[in-house]
Amino acid sequence: MPTAQETVIGRSTPRVDGPLKVTGTAHYASDHYFPGMLYAVPVEATIASGRVLKIDTAAAEKMPGVRAIFHRENIGKIFRSSPGQGFDGIVDERRPPFADDVVRYYGQYIALAVADTFESAKAAADGVRATYEKHEHNVERNLQADDEPDEVVTTFGPVKRLQSERGDPEKAFANAPAKIDQTYVTPTETHNPIELQATIALWDDGKLTIYEESQGVFNLRGVLAQMFGLEKENVSVITRFVGSGFGSKLWPWSHCALAVAAARQLGKPVKLVISRRMMFQAVGHRPRTQQRVRLGAKADGKLLSLQHDYLNHHAILDSYHEDCGEATPFLYSVPNLRVKFGRARRNVGSPTAMRGPGAVPGLYAIESAMNELAAELEIDPVRLRVLNEPKIDESLGIPFSSRHMLECYELGAEKFGWSKRKPEIGSMQRDGLILGWGAAGCAWVAARFPAEANVELRDDGTARVACGTQDIGTGTYTILAQLTSEKTGVPIEKIEVALGDTSLPEGPISGGSMVTGSLIPAVFEAAEHAIAALLTIATSTPGLPFEKRKPNELAFEAGKVFVQTEGAAKGVPFADLLKRANTRLVTGSGKGESTFGNPEPKFSTHSFGCHFVEVTWQPEIARLRVNRVVTVIDAGRIINPLAGRNQIEGAVVMGIGMALFEETSYDPQNGAPINSNLADYIMAVNADVPKLEVHFLDYPDKEINELGARGIGEIGLAGIAAAITDATYHATGVRVRELPIKIEDLLTSSVVS
Ligand code: MOS
Repeated sequence: MPTAQETVIGRSTPRVDGPLKVTGTAHYASDHYFPGMLYAVPVEATIASGRVLKIDTAAAEKMPGVRAIFHRENIGKIFRSSPGQGFDGIVDERRPPFADDVVRYYGQYIALAVADTFESAKAAADGVRATYEKHEHNVERNLQADDEPDEVVTTFGPVKRLQSERGDPEKAFANAPAKIDQTYVTPTETHNPIELQATIALWDDGKLTIYEESQGVFNLRGVLAQMFGLEKENVSVITRFVGSGFGSKLWPWSHCALAVAAARQLGKPVKLVISRRMMFQAVGHRPRTQQRVRLGAKADGKLLSLQHDYLNHHAILDSYHEDCGEATPFLYSVPNLRVKFGRARRNVGSPTAMRGPGAVPGLYAIESAMNELAAELEIDPVRLRVLNEPKIDESLGIPFSSRHMLECYELGAEKFGWSKRKPEIGSMQRDGLILGWGAAGCAWVAARFPAEANVELRDDGTARVACGTQDIGTGTYTILAQLTSEKTGVPIEKIEVALGDTSLPEGPISGGSMVTGSLIPAVFEAAEHAIAALLTIATSTPGLPFEKRKPNELAFEAGKVFVQTEGAAKGVPFADLLKRANTRLVTGSGKGESTFGNPEPKFSTHSFGCHFVEVTWQPEIARLRVNRVVTVIDAGRIINPLAGRNQIEGAVVMGIGMALFEETSYDPQNGAPINSNLADYIMAVNADVPKLEVHFLDYPDKEINELGARGIGEIGLAGIAAAITDATYHATGVRVRELPIKIEDLLTSSVVS
C-alpha cells in the first residue's frame, strides 16, 4: 500500500478553495459589508509635478449623501512607516498621503470624498476642484543615470551599485575575438490583477481592523501600526482571498492609509476600492529598464567577458531598485564579469516588484545577448549555453545546491524537436507560414522566509492547519492541506485551512516564490508537536489501549496510533483516542527559520529552466503569433503538479504579453499613464496563447527543506521574452531589442513568402 507521502506530496490536487471561488462564496476584501459602512473615492492630481494651491470642496460637500471631503488640513496625523526587522513596515511610497502640498506624479491622491454610497462618493470626488502651480514634469522614456553615490538606498536598505565583479571584464572584452555590445529595453509594465486594490477599515475603541487584499498581512499590520501610532496588537489584518497580485499587493499603498484615516475621523467603517485607472498610477508598476550587455567570447563560443550595466526609472521621492543583475553573476561560467546599475528619477508613482522582479527584465537582456552571440558565431544557441554551463556559482565560489540546467535543455530540445532547426533566417515553413524557433534559459532565487504554523487534530477525525500567510491564487490553501495531510494522514477534504489573518501564527509574505518552501518546516514541526501531544494523551489517559506505554514506544502513521513493535495493523485512529480521552483536540505549533539573505551560504540556491518557442510569421499581413511553447523547469520537488503547471502556464502567458503587447505609456503633455484601462493596456488573452507544454524535472533540493521543494511562482516569466524575440528574428530577420515587439518593427523584414 502506498504511504501517505507517495500519495499526497507530488499528487495533482485540485484547489481546496476552488468550489468557494467558482460558486461566488469566497469573500474577497471588497465583498465584505458592515452596518453603517461609508464609501471613499480618492481625488487624483491632474498634473504630474507642481503644488496644490487650493482645493475647492464647497460644491462637493453639498452633494447628497456626502459625509466629508478630506485633504491635507483635515485628514489627521498619518506618520511615516520605516522598515523594521524582516518584512515589517515596508512600503514603496514612503511619503504618507497628503503629507505636503507637492504633486510628484499624475494621479497622486490630493483629497478623498466619503459618502453613504459609492456613487455619491464618486460624484463628490469628481466635484472637487483643485488649482495648481504647475512645474515641469519629467516622464522622458530615455534613461540616463542620475548622479548617485556608489552605495544607494533602496526600499529594503542600502545596496552597492557595483553588484558583482570578477577578473578584468573591460580588458577581456577588448581582446575578445567575438563581441556583442547591445542595449535592451523593457517598457514600464503595470500589474493588472483582476481584483482591484481595496481596503475596508474599521475602528473599535482604538483598535483597527482592516480587510485588504494583501500579499503580506503582517507587514501591513506593521505599516499601519506605525502610520497610526498604534501597538501592533491593536491592528488586525484580514485577507481571506486575493484575486491575484503579481507584486502590486506586496506592500501597502496610500489609498489604504487614507481609508484608515477617514474611518478614524468619521467613526464609521470605510470602504475604498481603487479604479482600474488608479491601478496604473499609485499602486506600483515594473519600471522601464535599459540594459547594456557586453559579451566577449572565443570563436568557439566560450565566454571571456560579461558586462551588464542597467538602469531603471524610479519615483521622485522613493528608492525602488529593479534588480536586473540578480541572476547575471551565476548564470554562466565566465572569468571576467561586472554587473552595475544606475537609476533615473521620473514623475511617476513608485515602481514596485512585479512578478519575477529584476530577473525577468534582466534575463530578457542577458539571454537575448547570448542568442545574438550564437547567431554571430553560427553556433546553435542551446550548444552555446551548454559550452558555458558553470560547475559552481562563480560569483560566490560555492556549489549550487541543485542545478540541472543542461538536463532542462536536453529535455526541452527533445520535446520541442529542436534538432530539426535550420538556422537560416526564414528557412523553415509549415502550411504557408514562416516558422521561427528560439530558446532561452531562466533562473529564480530559492530560499525560505521565516514561518510559523499551528496544526490541530480533532476528535471528529478532522484537522486544522493555520498560518498567517496568504493565498494569492497560487494554491497556498491547497499546499497547506497537502502538507498537513502528509504528516497526519487526515484526508485533504477533512482539513480546514486558515490563513490570511494576523491573529494566526506569523506567516511569510506571498512573494519571491517562497511560500511553499517556507511553510514546509513550520507545518511539519507543528504536526509533529500535535502528534506528540496526542501520544502523551494516549499513554496518560486511564482506560486507553496504550495506557501502560511510554510515548516513545508508540508510532503514528496514516492517522493511527500503534505500538511500534506491534505494527500499524493494530493501530487506533486518533479520533477514537481523543474521544475516549474526552479531549476535543490536540494542537502543536512549529517554526521554520529564514535562509533568505544568509550572509554566509554554503550553497547557491536557485531554480532553473528553459523555454523553447515557435512563432509563425505571415509577411503578407505582418502577423506574428506565438505558436508553440515548451518549458522545462527545475524547481526541486513539485508538491502539487496541477497547481505547479498552472503557475508556469500563467507565467508563460504573461511572457507572451511581455514580448508582444504590454507597455504603459506616459503622455508627455501631462505625464499621465494614458493607456490606463484594460482596453488600451494590451495583455495576452486566450486567442494569443497556443497550447503550452510544461515539464518539471522534480529533483528534490534538500538544502531548501526536507521535501526539497523550491518555488515556481515567478520563474516561468523569466527568459521567455528572449526566446520569443529570438524566434522572431529567426522567422523575420529583424532583431527587436526594445519590448514589446511592434508590427512596425517587423515591416522591415526581408522574409517574404
Ligand atoms: Mo512577487 S513580485 O514577489 O509578488
